[in-house]
Amino acid sequence: MSPVSRRWIYVAVVYFCLAVGLGVFMGISGDHRMMSVHAHLNLLGWVTLSLVGIIYHYFPKAAASRLASLQFWLHNLALPVMMVALALLISGKPEAGPVLGSGALAMLLAVLLFAGNLLWRRA
Ligand code: HEM
Ligand code: HEM
Repeated sequence: MSPVSRRWIYVAVVYFCLAVGLGVFMGISGDHRMMSVHAHLNLLGWVTLSLVGIIYHYFPKAAASRLASLQFWLHNLALPVMMVALALLISGKPEAGPVLGSGALAMLLAVLLFAGNLLWRRA
């Protein structure tokens, strides 16, 4: 597997640990307020990062492009910002809302970079 794919998968595994850790905490404590943080750490972290890593393995041209690198950094900057802001929002800090929104827009941009990169460099 290429170093590019490995990079995505290594980060995915870190999110998997964090997300499942939070899931177990929610289960044990009975406090499910952070459900959405748990769900998105799992889905935008573990699942999406793993999928992107695996998909880039099959699209080496796209994986080698600058867009892929930009997408990696944008995704991995946006996700922690989004998750911290979402946790703050859920904890009663509405001022985190615009930060969450900005993180989400950055994430959308990362997703669009991925789509564009795959569709334009299909090998
Ligand atoms: C040991 C592992 C896990 C534990 C203990 C756990 C625990 C929980 C708990 C307590 C909730 C809140 C349920 C509720 O309030 O209705 C939840 C929700 C959720 N979990 Fe997990 N979880 C685990 C793993 C995962 C994994 C691996 C994924 C995805 C890959 C995942 C995705 C979700 C999603 C999407 C929700 C929201 C479900 C909804 O919308 O009702 N969880 N989890
Ligand atoms: C920028 C990216 C994303 C944004 C801004 C976003 C936003 C949201 C919002 C606003 C909700 C409703 C939360 C609530 O009612 O309390 C939600 C729920 C959910 N989203 Fe996302 N989402 C994103 C990406 C994803 C992705 C990539 C997946 C799956 C691969 C996903 C899966 C879910 C699931 C399963 C729920 C229901 C569980 C929950 O309430 O947390 N989301 N999302």
